[in-house]
Amino acid sequence: MKQNITSLIKDILEACKRTYDRGYVASNDGNISARIDSKSVLITPTGMSKGFLKASDLIIVDMDGKLIKGSKKPSSETFMHLQIYKSRPDVNSVCHSHPPYATGFAVAGIPLNKMVLPEVIIALGTVPLVKYGTTGTDELYGSIAEYIKDFDAFLLANHGALTVGNSVINAYHKMETLEHAAKIQFIAKQLGQVKTLNKKQTDQLINLRQKFGVRLDLGLKKTKLSNGGK
Ligand code: 13P
Repeated sequence: MKQNITSLIKDILEACKRTYDRGYVASNDGNISARIDSKSVLITPTGMSKGFLKASDLIIVDMDGKLIKGSKKPSSETFMHLQIYKSRPDVNSVCHSHPPYATGFAVAGIPLNKMVLPEVIIALGTVPLVKYGTTGTDELYGSIAEYIKDFDAFLLANHGALTVGNSVINAYHKMETLEHAAKIQFIAKQLGQVKTLNKKQTDQLINLRQKFGVRLDLGLKKTKLSNGGK
């Protein structure tokens, strides 16, 4: 189904501004895209600050990354965005940024695989740490490919974070949820310990997903839970 381009542009510019204003990126970092239809994607330009983008800076590419419309060069991560749309028909937006707490975990080599906070368990499940791949190359998506079917949020080792969603605001909100969860977990660790919810408490939260339209198996596969399923 073709999305309304005017409203996609508005949502991408808003998500870019929030990404920049909340300090999820520095300088020209980060990129955000939205699926327009089965043949095209709207994406941010390479090398421009997400805090100051205008509608005319955005670019439309086809599913092979060829320019359809726009006067700038598309993000150097366009290949990663397009591969995600190809593997996940339910995904209509991809957000990539470098939020400090989530990226701190990604640099420390620690996945967010503990069942700690109700909202995070419902919206994301666990967040895997994807192995390092050079930015702007096919290598980056190669590492994500293994996880993309089962998760909506990812820590990219020594790089940053990635979220996907059924709309721009949904994908962006997952980035906020991820960063907030990483920050809280970091603070709890400084205070002494990160207490996890037990299996019964976790299952009750997973059951609530139906109410919020979240896939029951999202973010629960392949990651060894660090609470040991207690
Ligand atoms: P682009 O400016 O090419 O989108 O790259 C920014 C970035 O954060 C790469 O990881």
